[in-house]
Amino acid sequence: MKYQKGVKHLTESGIITSKVPRKYILPFPDRPNLSNREIDDVKSRKINLPIIDFAHLNGNNKSQVLKSLAKACQEYGIFQVVNHGIEMETIHNMIDVSKRFFELPFDERAKFMSSNMYSPVRYGTSFNQNKDGVFCWRDFLKLSCNSVNDVVPFWPSSPVDFRMATQKYSEEAKSLYMKLTEAILETLGIMEDTNTDEMIEKENSLKEFEDGSQLMVLNYYPACPEPELTLGMPPHSDYGLLTLLLQDEVKGLQIQHQGTWHTVEPIPNSFVVNVGDHLEIFSNGKYKSVLHRVLVNSSRSRISIASLHSLAVSRIVRPSPKLINEDNPRRYQDTDFATFLEYVSSCEPKGKNFLESRK
Ligand code: SIN
Ligand code: FE2
Repeated sequence: MKYQKGVKHLTESGIITSKVPRKYILPFPDRPNLSNREIDDVKSRKINLPIIDFAHLNGNNKSQVLKSLAKACQEYGIFQVVNHGIEMETIHNMIDVSKRFFELPFDERAKFMSSNMYSPVRYGTSFNQNKDGVFCWRDFLKLSCNSVNDVVPFWPSSPVDFRMATQKYSEEAKSLYMKLTEAILETLGIMEDTNTDEMIEKENSLKEFEDGSQLMVLNYYPACPEPELTLGMPPHSDYGLLTLLLQDEVKGLQIQHQGTWHTVEPIPNSFVVNVGDHLEIFSNGKYKSVLHRVLVNSSRSRISIASLHSLAVSRIVRPSPKLINEDNPRRYQDTDFATFLEYVSSCEPKGKNFLESRK
């Protein structure tokens, strides 16, 4: 199989100077309308993307925080978390070591190229490079974090602190994910403390989420000479339960809300949390996965680190029985990872098509 060398390689080897190669140029209707970017930014301030202050989750304001969390998952499918308890140093080291990984010579990065979707480490480019008709302006490194001590030896050993910083970060991200999950189950009414059956259901769900799969994706979007012609990532929703995203200070992530694209303003030391398709299914449609895309820009490269959390590969995702009743019938078919992987390898993923296919 012929591997694509990716956009970082194109930009650093001098192949690209002022023009984007043809295979990155989107058809007219799919291009970002950058002349509207300023307008979008103003609107995004107006819609006030929900910010969840995690410090208040254990205090007197808990019920208020849970209300905001429920509203965020229902109306936007996305929120930002501040005061999450993960040390600034852990976050800083993760962004810094990711930057240094992408700055390594191409041959060093290329060692991790693989066509095996199940490989514990995979370096690549675009969105789905085997299927994309038009390529995206993005390179990535995907790291499986399942049974983390077993997989770390497969991760890059250069930069020298890569494994240590990334393992520490992945463990902290998992623990924040579990706290968020517990709060989200509570907002879905799956954990009233008084009733033993409900407690068992809550414990079972939490255990299943805890034993689930974690994949980290380090994204690198080089500065692009013609950002109005291409995208860093096409419109898509994430497949899992929740994605915790760390973005550096460079804007680029946009979400679609009520038919308009809005920029997610980077807030230092915060996480962007996306509802994924599996949570939409589990909540029987009460919570909505969010459609998002990434813009690139002509002056600065951008780094983001996504930690994607889903059920274990072997588990079936289905609506919680607690959320199905006469007034609210089951809305989605059962689904599993194998079905998802088959889906992504058979077509060019766009929008929320995978979720639509499970209705
Ligand atoms: C993603 O959609 O997984 C990445 C988003 C980003 O780079 O901001
Ligand atoms: Fe995504």
